[in-house]
Amino acid sequence: MIVLGIETSCDETSAALVEGGLKVLSNTVASQTALHRVYGGIVPEIACRAHSAALLPAVETALKQAGLTLKDVDAIAATQAPGLVGSLLVGLTAAKALAWAEGKPFVAVNHLAAHLYAAHMADPASPYPAVTLLASGGHTAVYLSRRPGEDEAVGRTVDDAAGEAFDKAAKVLGLGYPGGPEIDKLSATGNPKAEAFPRGEGPGDYDFSFSGLKTAVLYRCKGTRGRDEMTLTPQEKADVAASFQETVVETLVDRTMRAARGLGAASVRLSGGVACNRRLRARMQSAAEAAGLGFVCPAPVLCTDNAAMVAGLGAILLERQGASDLGVDAFARVEGPLAGRRYTAKAAKAVK
Ligand code: KG4
Ligand code: ZN
Repeated sequence: MIVLGIETSCDETSAALVEGGLKVLSNTVASQTALHRVYGGIVPEIACRAHSAALLPAVETALKQAGLTLKDVDAIAATQAPGLVGSLLVGLTAAKALAWAEGKPFVAVNHLAAHLYAAHMADPASPYPAVTLLASGGHTAVYLSRRPGEDEAVGRTVDDAAGEAFDKAAKVLGLGYPGGPEIDKLSATGNPKAEAFPRGEGPGDYDFSFSGLKTAVLYRCKGTRGRDEMTLTPQEKADVAASFQETVVETLVDRTMRAARGLGAASVRLSGGVACNRRLRARMQSAAEAAGLGFVCPAPVLCTDNAAMVAGLGAILLERQGASDLGVDAFARVEGPLAGRRYTAKAAKAVK
């Protein structure tokens, strides 16, 4: 089965063709980063207009690269939620229209479930149950997956997402946007033990909280009155970046491994844009291996927003539960098991 996937939930317009839920035939990603950079963050109105202009060319390119036409496609999948509603509507409406016009089944896919499925695509032999850390600019949560596409959140950030914390810390340090890759680069020349920042732990056993850490970086760079000019030397800046990164990575690894042990996972996985972070990949891999668990981290192009993961999960969902209704709507928030519940040591025992 060949599925055309469409992803427009945030600021990447992506179209992909995937065979049998796993084999990526093409995966085109048109990034809007250059349009939003001048504002230091994503502007929803600009994002949805840019998706409208970029989507059909992305679909055409994906088909061309795969050497296929729409007639060869068995189903069309698109991201339905969560995300920016205006942006989601562009991809969802186009997918429904194409499916209706071509007489093909349409499948609505959850963006977070698709990110989790990206790790399955990267290594389909990796065992279940799996615990995955999904860390991006908009979401940071830990999920327990019992099989591909059957996922439940077991921990989450109670305030900022990890990627958002990277982006905000980078802004304070006067680095470029998006900040995650900039901090990753600058940290290589800094001392990760130079600064003692507060750990980003949240209320539940597997929860995170990054807003205090972000404020601590602001105070370190600009003073507690928030008005002072930054007076850090280039080396001090690199030390702040490395110490900030180390604190985020330590918390992410600690909470994910705690969930993996507490819930009896057979493998540990990473997904989302922050999974591109070199320190996070290395630390999570050694923690998983030390615990005797399998480790999966997709290639960066499958970690960040892409339509291949949407097409892949679309194939599984179509087989498992049939086509979606063409009347389904886009929505911004996370609902159901993907929103999850709060785990404590007591509750963790109860699910085993
Ligand atoms: O998954 P993604 O591409 O988009 C969504 O938010 O859905 O994630 C983007 C986020 C941004 O906050 C970016 O700063 C962060 O991922 N990021 C990184 C790295 N590369 C991207 N964070 C830390 N280190 C990186 N190397
Ligand atoms: Zn995403």
